[in-house]
Amino acid sequence: MASGHLPVLAPRVVELLAPAAPGLLVDATVGLGGHAAALLRSHPGFRLVGLDRDPQALARAEDRLRGFGDRVRLVEACFASLPAVLERLGEEPPAAVLADLGCSSLQLDTAERGFSFAADGPLDMRMGAAGETAAELLARIEWEELVRILRDYGEERRARAVARAIVARRERAPFLTTADLSRLVAGVVGHGERRIHPATRTFQALRIAVNDELGELERFLEPAALGLRPGGRIAVIAFHSLEDRIVKHGLRRLAGRCVCPPGLPECRCNPRRELAVLTPSPLRPDDDEVAANPRARSARLRAAARLAGG
Ligand SMILES: C[S@@+](CC[C@H](N)C(=O)[O-])C[C@H]1O[C@@H](n2cnc3c(N)ncnc32)[C@H](O)[C@@H]1O
Repeated sequence: MASGHLPVLAPRVVELLAPAAPGLLVDATVGLGGHAAALLRSHPGFRLVGLDRDPQALARAEDRLRGFGDRVRLVEACFASLPAVLERLGEEPPAAVLADLGCSSLQLDTAERGFSFAADGPLDMRMGAAGETAAELLARIEWEELVRILRDYGEERRARAVARAIVARRERAPFLTTADLSRLVAGVVGHGERRIHPATRTFQALRIAVNDELGELERFLEPAALGLRPGGRIAVIAFHSLEDRIVKHGLRRLAGRCVCPPGLPECRCNPRRELAVLTPSPLRPDDDEVAANPRARSARLRAAARLAGG
């Protein structure tokens, strides 16, 4: 996640990906262009294809990356469609792929985008222009599914109570604004001892569901890693444990290690030796970075290289 001009773990990302230059660099979440600019500066032999599902982010990236001229191509697309995008552009297999998951500071800080419980806006939460808004999701979702989303994506301990309150309230009037939902959730969860706002977990859960964030990551990771040229590198920055688990297991499995849950009688995950993991444990921001950019605090960076014979 980038806060203004502060792309998360940028020096580590450059250390991990620059050795793959020269060649095609894909920034699958180009956002405001912070990581992309650092990587393009790191090696004159990198050319960039930058993806984002958010047209507003792409406009900002275009401004920021203008100085790199025809080394840059930007495409409005979801990263799960990366192989199709590269094929359409007639591109070679990438030397490096980066994904910096989640929302940008532009999205989180713009009240009209509807991500923030702290600023009132329409209950939208879509990163891109397409698809169902959070308000539409809340108007139609079954109670059991809402409980699952709040529990699994938000780790909300009071998922059942929050879901019950949402379903009871929507029978009287639909949810239209972030303040409306945030007030209702605060009323159920209470402020208690928590350091975070009581609606934090509900908002995170709905955002993940509205944008199918985990499905996108699952569909992206393996084709992106296997589509690298020999010696190419992939780096992914995750911001919560569900994302990080998908990245950790996905890279380990493609490095030939079984990631089945313990206790299965036989391996069902089909490990393959296609990658070498470059980060045995995830890289985290240090205290100075977190002080300068509090949104970096939960970042975990993992990377791998495509084996030459893979
Ligand atoms: C944390 S920001 C990236 C910031 C960027 N690294 C920078 O330095 O400015 C994440 C970006 O990824 C985009 N995004 C999230 N999920 C996406 C997906 N599935 N496909 C394409 N873009 C996505 C968001 O719209 C957002 O702009």
